[in-house]
Amino acid sequence: MTPPLIEARQISKRFGALTALNAVDLTIRSGEVLALLGDNGAGKSTFIKVLSGAHPASDGEILVDGRPVHFASPQDAAEAGIATIFQELALSENLSIAENVFLGREMTRNVLGVPFLKRRAMKRQVTGLLDELDAHISDPEAPVGSLSGGQRQAVAICRALNLDARLVIMDEPTAALAVAETRKVLQLVRRLADSGRAVILISHNMHDVFEVADRIAVFRRGRKIAERERRATDPEEIVSFITGAHPDVRALEMQS
Ligand SMILES: Nc1ncnc2c1ncn2[C@@H]1O[C@H](COP(=O)(O)OP(=O)(O)O)[C@@H](O)[C@H]1O
Ligand SMILES: [Mg+2]
Repeated sequence: MTPPLIEARQISKRFGALTALNAVDLTIRSGEVLALLGDNGAGKSTFIKVLSGAHPASDGEILVDGRPVHFASPQDAAEAGIATIFQELALSENLSIAENVFLGREMTRNVLGVPFLKRRAMKRQVTGLLDELDAHISDPEAPVGSLSGGQRQAVAICRALNLDARLVIMDEPTAALAVAETRKVLQLVRRLADSGRAVILISHNMHDVFEVADRIAVFRRGRKIAERERRATDPEEIVSFITGAHPDVRALEMQS
């Protein structure tokens, strides 16, 4: 059997006396959307920061393709194919879509030792990525400042794809979006998974999660307290895990 794309084993993260993550085991396979749910402070963001190389874990290990890896920085994680789209997106308003997608890693050609940007090649590549995502953005030279929230998500996803991401992590991508835009972004998420990438989606929106996720993991007080195939659960059960009303959670929390 081929190993999963990513396997987190017994990941813990302490900030001084505070345990933000407590022995989390989680597996992510190519071609699936895994939703992470949990109340504020449950450890979701800390977990993806460990996966994306932004925080070192205090304990535990991460395997990519079955091999242990050590991420000292987000660059290390990016090289392993893990791209994270944070809620702020980190796009430059005044730069074009293509410039944003290539920001910091522009294609250049040297003419007599002087680097020139390969604008046409970059534009072509970005047009291809936007088409692949079916993003309905026609002009890669449009400034990002002129785009809607959903279109900006598409640009951020293009940037991840341009880094050859195999796992795309998205933190609350639809939080600030209107309904139609949310639909579009969820389609992008689905498309990423259907193209064979893995997606981790953090969301508070149960409706979005049930529409797009294949699997759902619930975090509570730094622990992964439940994991379900989407088909094998319903919003009511997931909410009971999040709030701690579910009998399994009560039993677990009585022990500790
Ligand atoms: N850099 C940090 N320093 C200290 N405590 C932190 C830091 N980041 C997160 N925490 C704490 O870790 C816990 C988990 O936070 P977080 O992962 O952001 O939760 P979530 O994303 O699920 O809302 C919280 O108690 C939070 O206050
Ligand atoms: Mg968070």
